[in-house]
Amino acid sequence: MIRAGIIGGSGYTGGELIRLLLNHTEVRLDFVFSRTRNGESLHTTFPDLTGQTTLVYTNRPEPDVDVVFLCLGHGNSGRFMEEWSFNPETRIIDLSNEFRLSETSDFKGKAFVYGLPERNADRISRARNIANPGCFATAIELALLPLAQEQLLTQAVHINAVTGSTGAGAGLSETSHFSWRNNNFSLYKPFIHQHLAEIRETLDGFGPPVPELFFLPHRGDFPRGIFATAYVAYEGTIQEARDLYASYYREAPFTLLTEAVPNLKQVVNTNSAHLHLHKHNGVLLITSILDNLLKGASGQAVENMNLMFGIPRDTGLKLKAIGF
Ligand SMILES: NC(=O)c1ccc[n+]([C@@H]2O[C@H](COP(=O)([O-])OP(=O)(O)OC[C@H]3O[C@@H](n4cnc5c(N)ncnc54)[C@H](OP(=O)(O)O)[C@@H]3O)[C@@H](O)[C@H]2O)c1
Repeated sequence: MIRAGIIGGSGYTGGELIRLLLNHTEVRLDFVFSRTRNGESLHTTFPDLTGQTTLVYTNRPEPDVDVVFLCLGHGNSGRFMEEWSFNPETRIIDLSNEFRLSETSDFKGKAFVYGLPERNADRISRARNIANPGCFATAIELALLPLAQEQLLTQAVHINAVTGSTGAGAGLSETSHFSWRNNNFSLYKPFIHQHLAEIRETLDGFGPPVPELFFLPHRGDFPRGIFATAYVAYEGTIQEARDLYASYYREAPFTLLTEAVPNLKQVVNTNSAHLHLHKHNGVLLITSILDNLLKGASGQAVENMNLMFGIPRDTGLKLKAIGF
């Protein structure tokens, strides 16, 4: 059994990891660390875990586990690793943005590999530490990877994406307050969202730098999911585009092409990303949807762990969509 620990286990990605790891046949969840809930049962924070586990939160991580998931707000992972040390053999999977870019991927001798399996599966399977991608970044990179690989991103790419409220974490803020968020819709950080850097670095990795990425992120009034659309000039036929995407993702168990225009409920509560292609007047429109807490965070983190430990990539991730 893989012995696992979770740091930041009272937050949204931590909670989702607890649920996944308790149901993972190859994992034993040894501890869940919390600064603020030491000694409390996990179900006091997550009532859906009632009867699922007798674990209580701890404020002392167990140093000899096989893998640790860091589910902390941005900037806290490095601080945590300075304060607490783990066995040199312990693998680290960090869900924050701290180590995602090549210029930040080395932390005191620990090298972090960018954990997007659709781009880096071989490197992930050999990695000791993983920087798990951002949720918007995953949706957008999956939408554009096949075009980038063929160097078909020759003109500006326009991207719109809407995220649910869990994307902002469990802490209450003005824009996640029910009265503000419910029945509301808003734009934020137009053209400057922080995930653009990792998106650009991933796409640029295929060769010449991709042109301008015009990204408009939006907040939706639903809790989970990302619905992203990207469009770009494309000279091929729609069938050529479908063949390109099918070929690129032929070995990706979670990234699937759909014939019908997708809707969020077909991926919410799953680790799948669904992609749909549409051609109009020389422009290719790619729709990319996923669950921000699963393929956009904790599900992808488990997928990365499976790759690192040489077990089937979908172990513990055969999940059921809510559907309706
Ligand atoms: N939410 C998403 O959809 C999503 C998607 C992809 C990536 N991410 C990234 O994943 C990370 C976690 O996100 P989240 O949504 O789970 O956040 P969250 O709900 O705010 O949870 C973060 C947890 O970290 C702990 N924490 C906060 N400050 C800390 C500190 N200074 N030192 C140690 N622990 C601290 C807290 O738990 P305790 O008080 O119990 O210790 C808190 O519950 C973030 O970096 C986020 O950007 C999130």
